[in-house]
Amino acid sequence: MLDNKGFDQWAGKYDDDIAKAKGYPFEGYYQVLAYVHSKVEKPQDKKVLDIGIGTGLLTEELYKKGATIYGVDFSPKMIEEASTKMPNGKFYCCDITQGLCSELMEMKFNYIVSSYALHHLTDEEKIEFINRLKELILPGGKIILADVAFEKFIDRENCQKEVGEEWDSDEYYIVAESFIDMLKETGFKSRYTQISICGGVLELWV
Ligand SMILES: C[S@@+](CC[C@H](N)C(=O)[O-])C[C@H]1O[C@@H](n2cnc3c(N)ncnc32)[C@H](O)[C@@H]1O
Repeated sequence: MLDNKGFDQWAGKYDDDIAKAKGYPFEGYYQVLAYVHSKVEKPQDKKVLDIGIGTGLLTEELYKKGATIYGVDFSPKMIEEASTKMPNGKFYCCDITQGLCSELMEMKFNYIVSSYALHHLTDEEKIEFINRLKELILPGGKIILADVAFEKFIDRENCQKEVGEEWDSDEYYIVAESFIDMLKETGFKSRYTQISICGGVLELWV
């Protein structure tokens, strides 16, 4: 698993690598992002927090439509790339395994989104993190989490078999059939949508 220095090194060529990527883990990447965009209603008057914002590929589209974007990442170089795309965005450098920075914990958002970042947390850590986010969501708001994810364990097994040595055993991918059950303790309602063979989106609302 890459640390923040590893992501710093990747930042300058990340967008090109994603554009060229085929198959696991980024299969259907742009469709996954488009699905998230379609779930953000009237972006022009919304505050959106992007967790693990990277170079800003997820939220740039919403920024262009007028949303106010807040981004969190532990890689200063990734943040640099994102701030080039979104000069009026607000960015925070922090490690989400330690929670969110205190400034953000004082704020409220209409949407909290994330793409291809939360697989760095175990399922238990994801649940703990989601519990913390609850305080930050405005009434009527939503959390939308896009990532490498699967509907059922058998789908994950099949994908792992197919990709063989390329499978990254250090990452923790959501399997909806068990994660949706784990989410019940958070009090969120949820819906999971599979978009590609290995990409899915989880929507959470109160
Ligand atoms: C694969 S990239 C995804 C970036 C972007 N969301 C996208 O969809 O292209 C993962 C991002 O999560 C960030 N990240 C990984 N672990 C993190 C952590 N513990 N705290 C904060 N950011 C983290 C990385 O720096 C990187 O920018």
